[in-house]
Amino acid sequence: MKVGIDLLHFATANYYLGLDTFAAEKNIDVDKFYVGIGQEKMSIASPDEDIVSLAAKAAAPILQKIDSNEISAVLFATESGVDQSKSAGVFLHGLLNLSNRCRIVEFKQACYAGAAALQMATALVRANPKEKILVIAADVAKYDLDTSGEATQGCGAVAMLITEAPRILEIEPGSGYYTDDVMDFWRPNSRTTALVDGKYSTKVYLNSLKQVWEHFTESTGKSFTDIDYFCYHIPFTKMAEKAHQTLVRKAGVKLTQAQFQAQTLPGQLYNRIIGNSYSASLFISFISLLDNLTENIENKRVSFFSYGSGCVAEFFTGVMQPGYQSVLMTENHKAQIDKRIPLTYTQYLEFHQQMGASDENVTLNINNPGPYRLAGIKDHKRYYEKTDQ
Ligand code: HMG
Repeated sequence: MKVGIDLLHFATANYYLGLDTFAAEKNIDVDKFYVGIGQEKMSIASPDEDIVSLAAKAAAPILQKIDSNEISAVLFATESGVDQSKSAGVFLHGLLNLSNRCRIVEFKQACYAGAAALQMATALVRANPKEKILVIAADVAKYDLDTSGEATQGCGAVAMLITEAPRILEIEPGSGYYTDDVMDFWRPNSRTTALVDGKYSTKVYLNSLKQVWEHFTESTGKSFTDIDYFCYHIPFTKMAEKAHQTLVRKAGVKLTQAQFQAQTLPGQLYNRIIGNSYSASLFISFISLLDNLTENIENKRVSFFSYGSGCVAEFFTGVMQPGYQSVLMTENHKAQIDKRIPLTYTQYLEFHQQMGASDENVTLNINNPGPYRLAGIKDHKRYYEKTDQ
């Protein structure tokens, strides 16, 4: 039985801050960002946008293509949770009018949670092929102003429908995984911004990749040359480039520059102009690969390296299904990215200051045109709305 991703769609915010604007404000050479970390723009959420509104925008086009009453579970991965008790997925359930015969739970382990949710959904469908599971990975990556992480902010949500006989990608059984209790990046309950030991985090990321590769090759018998395209968790695209260099060295293969780029570059293009989206970032890389390749990659194997600080990592693979191109939502993705509005540095500061800062009573100004937005907070309760757009 084949199980995997049947439909796939992402959403990002309506605004971005160009790293050229950021560099000019901070008096830093812009090439530190364009070349040094490989980033150009950061998607910035307005105060009336959060993981729930982003997730609804990501999932709605998928639900339009199926009978949404068939969704038997929503697994919602995030590290930007809006409530310590109620799952973000339950707010989503209300906004999208899903069936009451559905279970919902939130998954957390930094950026790894999206891959965890995907693997668990796959296992549920293997156990019961009637299940149709909506996996959401949604995050707003937010650091304090004037910290090393500030240039790597971003946000996004990916929705994936996991079914039997999937039309896009069969997830192959077998993976390599790794956990180590380290403090490279974390966010205490009292904070809306993450804390990070930046340089250390990049070392732990690369070490985790080596560890999961060893486990993956031992447990599946597959080797580097069995894989055609490589998707990585992308906090910034230079990290993915370093990851691929590390894997090439570890596997002992020789690649030309053109081969190296063909295996990884298309899977970085969206991330370069969206920024980090934590749990969603690996899957935005996958969508970037599919939307930006000119050739048809039916029956080709794609690998996925998920890394979540703290840390947990996993390496797994999937096989592209015949006819997959006919169900991609490439135009939607490109249109969303193209229509984003650039922020001035002052507007960015206003959004940064307000976003997720409090649960006091507030009616939020309309900056997010919808179709889903956070309308306000009253008596510590969040109120979402569907707009006409
Ligand atoms: P930094 O200290 O601002 O930058 O932080 P730098 O001085 O190290 O420079 C970065 C690179 O730019 C260097 O190249 C410089 O040489 C180069 P490298 O040595 O890395 O090859 N550079 C230039 N290049 C061209 N022209 C110039 C120029 N100037 C400098 N003029 C750091 C970098 C990654 C530490 C920072 O961005 C950071 O703290 N980021 C946040 C943490 C992060 O993203 N970590 C990644 C691994 S952990 C992870 O992925 C998990 C995460 O997603 C969270 C989760 O799991 O939930 C973060």
